[in-house]
Amino acid sequence: MTSLLHKIDPRNVPAHVAIIMDGNGRWAKMRSLDRSEGHVEGVNTVRRITEAASEAGVRFLTLYAFSTENWNRPQAEVDALMHLIVIAIERETPDLIKNNVRLSMIGDFDRMPQEALNRLQRCMQDTAHCTGLTLNLALSYSARWEITEAVKAIAADAVSGKINPAQITPDTVDKYLTTAGMPDPDLLIRTGGDNRVSNFLLWQIAYSEIYITNTYWPDFSKEDFFRAILEYQSRERRFGLTSEQLTK
Ligand code: IPE
Ligand code: IPE
Ligand code: MG
Repeated sequence: MTSLLHKIDPRNVPAHVAIIMDGNGRWAKMRSLDRSEGHVEGVNTVRRITEAASEAGVRFLTLYAFSTENWNRPQAEVDALMHLIVIAIERETPDLIKNNVRLSMIGDFDRMPQEALNRLQRCMQDTAHCTGLTLNLALSYSARWEITEAVKAIAADAVSGKINPAQITPDTVDKYLTTAGMPDPDLLIRTGGDNRVSNFLLWQIAYSEIYITNTYWPDFSKEDFFRAILEYQSRERRFGLTSEQLTK
């Protein structure tokens, strides 16, 4: 079977793809396994989809790996997930370097266990020179946390006279978000079939194309990823304009 990769128009590849990786627990339950087995399998999908994104020419891949709300899950699951992050980063760093992938991370680092944070920071340093795909992990992340932090920082800079409140624009807000310097996601994918955004990148997805699939994250394949990009390429992004305006 030839890969759908060859059907992708290289001139219209989404620069930034964001993914809500959902369905690990249900994948495991279906197989009478522990939820943590689903997360272990989910790490293999991360590896696969990072490769697929590189192959397709995506510049930024943001993966929602752990939300602020996920801290409230049973402690054993949280611990297993954090441990998994340590192991996965340690194992994958050499291949990230080989594949020219730069690791980046957004989220409330203060809540992360020290060991996981150390590993992640070391991997970010070790891949800082890579110029291919940027793999951006959203860990201990939520959009309302992010926007609240941005508002606090903007208010502090206004009080200290660094910025003039009258001159605050959407671009100013962009600069205070954790994704400063990245383009907004062109494509937002959610696996696991739920039709919601679960506190992910609320500001940045204003005009993202949304693609939801019932496939659970551990089953999500490279071809599924390419299919999402093809669907993206078939859509007309109007950004509020009329279709006629766009073809002029
Ligand atoms: C997504 O899978 C991974 C995380 C949120 C950490 P879930 O663990 O949410 O799996 P489901 O949604 O319960 O199937
Ligand atoms: C969203 O999945 C968060 C991540 C994928 C990390 P959840 O499973 O936490 O979201 P809800 O609870 O279904 O909204
Ligand atoms: Mg879920």
